[in-house]
Amino acid sequence: MGFMTIDGQRVEFTNEPNVLTVIRNAEIDIPTLCYHSELSIYGACRMCVVENEETGKIDASCSMEPRNGMRIRTNSARLLKHRRMILELLLASHNCNCTTCEKSGHCHLQTLAQQFGVRKIRFPDTREHFAIDNTSPAVLRDPNKCILCGDCVRVCEEMQGMGILNFAYRGSSAQVMPAFDRKMAQTKCVSCGQCAAVCPTGAISIKTNIDEVWDALADPNTIVVAQVAPAVRVALGDKFGIPKGENVMGKLVNALHRLGFHEVYDTTYGADLTVIEEAEELLERISSGAKGPLFTSCCPGWVSFAKSQYPELLPQLSTAKSPQQMFGAVIKTYFAQKKGIAPENITCVSIMPCMSKKRELTLPGMDSAGTGQDIDYVLTTREICRLIKADHIDVSRLPECDFDDPLGEATGAGVIFGASGGVLEAALRTAYHTVTGENPEIGEQSPLKVLRQIG
Ligand code: FES
Repeated sequence: MGFMTIDGQRVEFTNEPNVLTVIRNAEIDIPTLCYHSELSIYGACRMCVVENEETGKIDASCSMEPRNGMRIRTNSARLLKHRRMILELLLASHNCNCTTCEKSGHCHLQTLAQQFGVRKIRFPDTREHFAIDNTSPAVLRDPNKCILCGDCVRVCEEMQGMGILNFAYRGSSAQVMPAFDRKMAQTKCVSCGQCAAVCPTGAISIKTNIDEVWDALADPNTIVVAQVAPAVRVALGDKFGIPKGENVMGKLVNALHRLGFHEVYDTTYGADLTVIEEAEELLERISSGAKGPLFTSCCPGWVSFAKSQYPELLPQLSTAKSPQQMFGAVIKTYFAQKKGIAPENITCVSIMPCMSKKRELTLPGMDSAGTGQDIDYVLTTREICRLIKADHIDVSRLPECDFDDPLGEATGAGVIFGASGGVLEAALRTAYHTVTGENPEIGEQSPLKVLRQIG
């Protein structure tokens, strides 16, 4: 254990990896742009600088080791000037069309510029302007908003193990891009969304489909059908200030109808279909002695990751479609037939918590009715919130509504899909019931025991 003096306050430290962590553990706020505790330290932005009281030196606290007896200041007139200058320089080489930017309101650079009162930029914009890469169905890359913090590069390499993005060129020509300046659609990007999540600006964002959905809702010749994934309810409740315990889904169904969606269903119905398929497949594999384990194929990000990084696992991936695609196929075939609507006159919209679902709908084999795609658009939770807010609907005050019939009902198996281990438990329960005609007491047994009983 050691101690240091931060802003005149004695602070003890033990195994903290850097001075920045010691500062934050002491409840002292310090701005950062390129630091993430789970990623390697890059030390590029210099927003986290501190002033050494003895030497007067200014250094980045994220890449400084804590030393016993150190005396530092996190806030001084010099540091303030230093940080404001950094922000001004970053803004000078940044596309500052904030009002129309996808990240406006949650852009870290914008927040810091506001906090530090940067009102004018004294430097001319001499940067080269680049084309926006909108080739990916899920990710939008705008190099003109990149501040070269490298967060996307490190998260893609270190956390996701993909290494799609990297730095190219040097000095003032430096850029972040896929290898050989390929478009995102030409890479093996699995659309996990981690780059968009860590990007502090609008340089990488989730591609939005709001305008297409508005057009579909206004089109008198199309029936717009929504399916809602159960996992969106928590984030949605938070965004609309709905107290915990209230039925968020019931209010959302009502809001979607007010927006003009003709039918609103629960993706849990699709999850039930996936469970039945996966359980059948599991039983078949056990009886034929096929190599295990059987991996779920519900997450398109995981399927793409396995395809590109672990192709030897592909024979062990379930062949069942994900709940989203199961549902899309049912809507464009069974539902269309039951309602007497031509499948091409149906627009299927999914409301999903994950952007990789935007890519899934474009994959081969996701067209059961010959209309091109079973699912037409995917909206993330943030996008559906925008749609609702644009129509000035106060979700918290809406009465609850049930999902529509005939596809609005589902079992508990589909509901637990959203929880960790839920797919496994649901498939095992179903397989067990198929073999024994009874429900297993899975809470008291390990999934492995249940599997042995089935086998
Ligand atoms: Fe320390 Fe960027 S946060 S240099």
